[in-house]
Amino acid sequence: MAGHARGPFVAGNWKMNLTLAGAVDLARKVAAAGPELRPCDLLLIPPFTSLGAVGAALAGSDVALGAQDLFWEDAGAFTGEVSGPMLRDAGCAYVLVGHSERRLHFGETDETVGRRARAALKAGLRPVVCVGEVLEEREGGRTMARIDDQIARGLGALSRDEIERLVWAYEPVWAIGTGRTASPAQAGEVHAHIRRRIEEGYGKATASCAIILYGGSVKPANSYPLFKEENIDGFLVGGASLEAEGFIGIAREALRAYREEK
Ligand code: PGA
Repeated sequence: MAGHARGPFVAGNWKMNLTLAGAVDLARKVAAAGPELRPCDLLLIPPFTSLGAVGAALAGSDVALGAQDLFWEDAGAFTGEVSGPMLRDAGCAYVLVGHSERRLHFGETDETVGRRARAALKAGLRPVVCVGEVLEEREGGRTMARIDDQIARGLGALSRDEIERLVWAYEPVWAIGTGRTASPAQAGEVHAHIRRRIEEGYGKATASCAIILYGGSVKPANSYPLFKEENIDGFLVGGASLEAEGFIGIAREALRAYREEK
């Protein structure tokens, strides 16, 4: 593949941060930068409590709304959970699935990631499915095997149509919130591997259009060389997305690299 099949995609995962006023302020600033950042796809992923207010702040803008997780049942006695139809109703177009923090702290497994991805698709949401190895797996040479397991166990049952609606996110767990970013070569190697697996399962056209984001200590200073890797289509940003300048700066740097391809 020569260059990227489509413009950059940059998502901000706000995690468990910001109350309403701060969330709305940040969303407005990102929305205001939207036109300048075309054709970059922008996505904000606030906590559940600010989805409504952030959705209102983004109305009419280029910026999409997503949630950080969902449960696989549509409704019922599941205290503390939120369903796909509820997220659609709240204005979400995307939902994160299988973030490593959900896997680490909340018992998420490859199988439950798959159930959540299927529930998201059924509700008309695009799941942003996170995969990635822990440090021990990387140091033990088991990165690709771990990624293969996550894909096979979590997403093996999906049809080509469903796979085409996913956004993929490779997030090496050792790089999340640590300030330790994967090098462009390290990330690019895993992204190429994921694209190969998609091609093996679903064909070349599906693979070449797949959006595969990198996440893990992304900031404006490292996003340009990462996006230069042909299989890195954008970023899932945590810490740096909590400041408008950081998030917008990352999108600008990705766009700069993208425009150089044209
Ligand atoms: P980070 O988080 O950018 O703070 O490393 C990324 C993520 O967890 O999605």
